[in-house]
Amino acid sequence: MSQITEEYVRRHPTSEELYARACEALPSGLTHDNRRMTPFPIYVDRAQEARKWDVDDNELIDFVLGHGALILGHLDHDVIASVKEQLDLGTHYGASHELEIRWAEKVKELVPGADKVRFTSSGTEATMLALRLARTYTGCEKVIRFHGHFHGWHDYMMSGNKPPFSLPTSTGMPADLQSLAVAMRAGEIEAVRAVLDREDIAAVIMEPTGGTQGKAPMDPEFVRQVRDLTAQRGVLLIFDEVVTGFRVSPGGAARALGVTADITALGKIVAGGLPGGAVVARRNVMNPLEFSGDPSRDRYSRVAHPGTFNANPVSAAAGLNCLERIEDGSVGQYCDALAHRFREGMNDILEKRGIPGCVYGGSSILHIAAGVDIPRVSDPSELVGYDPTRLIGGMGPALVPFRRATINRGIDFMGPTGFVSAAHTEADIETALEAFDAAMADLADEGVFE
Ligand SMILES: Cc1ncc(COP(=O)(O)O)c(C=O)c1O
Repeated sequence: MSQITEEYVRRHPTSEELYARACEALPSGLTHDNRRMTPFPIYVDRAQEARKWDVDDNELIDFVLGHGALILGHLDHDVIASVKEQLDLGTHYGASHELEIRWAEKVKELVPGADKVRFTSSGTEATMLALRLARTYTGCEKVIRFHGHFHGWHDYMMSGNKPPFSLPTSTGMPADLQSLAVAMRAGEIEAVRAVLDREDIAAVIMEPTGGTQGKAPMDPEFVRQVRDLTAQRGVLLIFDEVVTGFRVSPGGAARALGVTADITALGKIVAGGLPGGAVVARRNVMNPLEFSGDPSRDRYSRVAHPGTFNANPVSAAAGLNCLERIEDGSVGQYCDALAHRFREGMNDILEKRGIPGCVYGGSSILHIAAGVDIPRVSDPSELVGYDPTRLIGGMGPALVPFRRATINRGIDFMGPTGFVSAAHTEADIETALEAFDAAMADLADEGVFE
């Protein structure tokens, strides 16, 4: 066993025990594919601000942050106060409530092109509803999507997001549904034009800063060109802002890029770190969700959308509070500045240690590609056009040792990706850089990047 693994096992005896139990009750002992770790994942039992503690009382500076949902960090005082207040009033009324209106009004204020809002329970549900709306609006079934862009785990979007892009990410995918998604390489506008000319396309869906939270960065000019092409043809443009929404700017990537989509799918931050998502669009695109009162129209020409936990009052309380906190942009600017310092510091460490690769990313997002043959860049735009297979594939087999080594040293990333929150301080980033340096030394000693 490598020293890094030995140390990992030594530090986490209770996690190891829990994992053995978990494997009897949960497939692979897991509840989310991306939480997989060998020989076992760590189990966490409390978190506060920028930190979390595992069941063996190891302290971690957290850059996972609820898979990017917790832009204010763990247990943000105001969000928690609003959640507690709501818990005392009830968790689910099975009825309309005022908070959902205030929450929707706030989303409308912030997101470009949001005449109306429909809440869902997750980002996956949001992209699924976005596609249903686009198909209804255009009467077409096919959708263009881009290699490496992730849009949740429903059957419509399960091909094209993971290399090899020609194969679905999961088994159990009906071939008929797969044929409805035309997966293309981002950046190739003439190829997009050709498909739009040849086929009846309902929508083009994209993560507007690039695939997998910007891991495969995309040229803003390409986004504008797609906007123009789709607008000219009556095809809808869907921005999947589940990650970028409210992070890249208070109005998401749309506001930062100055491009307004026809439909925007939201998740994560929109619900303040609790479960939730939303779809927003202009009035005429949302119209099919409206009841007309005409029984025939409502039965045969409506987009149906139930969902037990849509706009549950607890998520509404957290979401509204969180959006009120980020709306003036200062939270985002603070997180972006810290993330920039963190990325630069990690790059200096890679350079000092002669480890190839780069840490890059926009806004408060970090993509760590240590040991990967890509150049050091100070801006993700420099990686536009790079082979998406290589960027999405990232660290490859080095990822698991990297995760073990960084956890041993007290920092936790979401695989090769991380997020910085308003709860992180400059001192946290300096401590995290020392930990990163030590982890890189451990990995280099074991020849992981050779
Ligand atoms: C861009 C993007 N879209 C959609 C989703 C799916 O969201 P959820 O996990 O809430 O279903 C994710 C999740 O990470 C995402 O990153």
